[in-house]
Amino acid sequence: MTLSDELERLRGDAASRLAAAQNADEVDTLRHDLLGRSGELTALMKQLGSVPPEERPAVGRLANEVRGEVERAIGERLEQLRGSDIEARLADEAIDMSGPGRPMPVGHLHPLLTTMRDLREIFHAYGFEVFEGPEIETDEYNFELLNIPPDHPSRDLWDTLYVAEPGSAEAGASRPDPDGTILRTHTSPTQLRAMRALEPPIRVLTPGRCFRHDAVDASHGFEFFQIEGLVIDRDTSLADLKGLLEEVARALYGRDVRTRFRPGYYPFTEPSVAFDIGCLVCGGDGCPACKRSGWMTILGAGMVHPTVLRNGGFDPDEFQGYAFGMGPDRMTMLRHAIGDIRLFFSADLRFVTQFAEGR
Ligand code: DAH
Repeated sequence: MTLSDELERLRGDAASRLAAAQNADEVDTLRHDLLGRSGELTALMKQLGSVPPEERPAVGRLANEVRGEVERAIGERLEQLRGSDIEARLADEAIDMSGPGRPMPVGHLHPLLTTMRDLREIFHAYGFEVFEGPEIETDEYNFELLNIPPDHPSRDLWDTLYVAEPGSAEAGASRPDPDGTILRTHTSPTQLRAMRALEPPIRVLTPGRCFRHDAVDASHGFEFFQIEGLVIDRDTSLADLKGLLEEVARALYGRDVRTRFRPGYYPFTEPSVAFDIGCLVCGGDGCPACKRSGWMTILGAGMVHPTVLRNGGFDPDEFQGYAFGMGPDRMTMLRHAIGDIRLFFSADLRFVTQFAEGR
């Protein structure tokens, strides 16, 4: 076989081998086998020297032609394969617009927050606006201005968390720090902040987090929520307070809820009352949830003490007011028959996802 024949054979051969290559890698191998330094075409071209001189130009031209053709064919095959790769990828990524959508998990309000929002809405209808206070309070606002002087026995009602400089002698000790900075034990200090900041008539609602150095159990957390209410005006009475709280209980728990007021004691109200609703678990017959009494306490309240009014800048002969402190944690537990307050802060999705309707 002459060199020209061999070149012609290789031309045809290369074309069919290229057509058979299935991907870019196979084309690359083929390029190497044909055009590489010890490739088939390279080997043929090395034989040009042994061709008789008069034939050499023609055979040389043919060799170059074949080489050019093979190179071009390799390029074209690569393009082709790449094109079909893209098509395959596009087919892969194609979206079936007629298929059902994938459900996206959407969050919802925590049951506690739902109760707080509901209460805010209910009180809004009675003209209350939200007035917030700091979670880190002073001893003065948390106790003294509320008629609870140092060493007063009623301080024992509150297991207080004191704030101290890290590394100071007080840090970690149970002694108060010199500035009397504490985590508020209730939202009542905001009563004074509101009285000092606002003009009468005052109707405010203070939702917020409170902290106590309490042992944690099914009904106590070291952090919990309260919603404080305060009304200051020239002509308010315990009757107003009673009527308001009864309406709020009906709005939250339904028209049939039973309510009662009992005498209570708080240093910052006089008289003081506790407000109970008929047990929602047993309907009043008595059960473990209501300690067999048929009633559950949901808040403390009373007429603002004259000393507190004076501390807030009001003359008790001219102004009266009433205040109440609600426990939304407990109110939410009653609403949904939740048995353990710790569930609220447990970050357990199995618990919170049960309240999706409160969105
Ligand atoms: N601050 C009280 C507590 O934490 C609750 C309370 C009782 C608030 C009576 C009031 C009130 O405003 O009038 O136990």
